[in-house]
Amino acid sequence: MHAVILSGGSGTRLWPLSREAYPKQFLALNSNDSLLEETLQRARAVPACSGLLAITNEAHRFIVAAHLQRHETPASGSRILLEPDGRNTAPAIALAAMQIQAEEPAAVMLVLPSDHVIQNTDAFVAAVEEGIKAAESGKLVTFGVMPSTAHTGYGYIRAGQPQQGDAAWLPVREFVEKPDSPTAESYLADGHYYWNSGMFMFRADRYLEELERFRPDILEACQKAWAQRQDDLDFVRVGEEAFAACPEDSIDYAVMERTEEAVVLPLDAGWSDVGSWSSLWELHDQDDDGNVVRGDVLTEEVTQSYLHSEGRLIAAIGVDNHVIVETDDVVLVADKNRVQDVKRLVSRLREAG
Ligand code: GDD
Ligand code: MG
Repeated sequence: MHAVILSGGSGTRLWPLSREAYPKQFLALNSNDSLLEETLQRARAVPACSGLLAITNEAHRFIVAAHLQRHETPASGSRILLEPDGRNTAPAIALAAMQIQAEEPAAVMLVLPSDHVIQNTDAFVAAVEEGIKAAESGKLVTFGVMPSTAHTGYGYIRAGQPQQGDAAWLPVREFVEKPDSPTAESYLADGHYYWNSGMFMFRADRYLEELERFRPDILEACQKAWAQRQDDLDFVRVGEEAFAACPEDSIDYAVMERTEEAVVLPLDAGWSDVGSWSSLWELHDQDDDGNVVRGDVLTEEVTQSYLHSEGRLIAAIGVDNHVIVETDDVVLVADKNRVQDVKRLVSRLREAG
């Protein structure tokens, strides 16, 4: 099994800590290691993992290389594939599949986002090992997390009845990417839906076959870009112009919503996609006042809040349910229920140049 680590995202909702030049996968948000490093270690913890491929963009190549190097032995043979400019996950995974296929045509690939937290590595490894059999048989494996809210930023998976003996995986009856709020509410109430964790496992050839079926335009553009690749010691680069012409789409819309060959493995491993400041607050142990505090912070009657200082002292009095994040050049103060709107703020800043 080859692990493919997607590391091309920008994580704007964790601004001002997560920046375009240094997005959240490179930050140590959960332990002393970055989320990317934690992902590498998790992939390496799967005994069947025989190779590792990180896929990212030109701009982040040295950061990815440095994080990889910290966890590599010279013989462990990882590679970094570079996109000139990201076209979302369907093309990125297609390029990864081509790279892996070149070595081993029917290899199983485990696709991992680099910006998630998984608390229980053993449970993750057990689920992957279970899923390898399904992937080898040609299935497209997803990992389903029991939903706790009607979050509209996730894919939802409706599982069917088990079909093959005692296999832990279930057929996917429906995959809906980022439903609107009433639909997500109805899925939560229904009780048969999982959140899509964003991790996938399938044979490289099977992914490319399904992509050809549903998005031949993406496959063709990736094949062209791949054919023009340049492979040096450190990085594999695909053809710039050919890749720029590739339509943009995520694997979720391009393939997972359409394929009839998907299965889901329930995953109970303390998964979080650390999508916002409030999810970081939820993830960490709160003190007696319900606060999560990082760095130099002084509080007086502050409750249910996330306070994070990178340098200067944060002093807060009588604040409830807030997020305060201090960095060199920005101080963010937000209602904890409004942290999804950080994304909007970042777009406004970008527009303003
Ligand atoms: N190399 C590369 N190139 N990586 C990318 C690109 C790209 O163009 N775009 C995104 N990524 C990486 C991100 O860094 C992240 O690790 C992963 O791919 C998923 O992309 P996101 O943009 O974070 O997706 P999402 O969060 O909106 O949705 C996905 O994840 C959810 C769970 O967190 C979907 O799979 C949902 O169905 C799922 O619920
Ligand atoms: Mg995400």
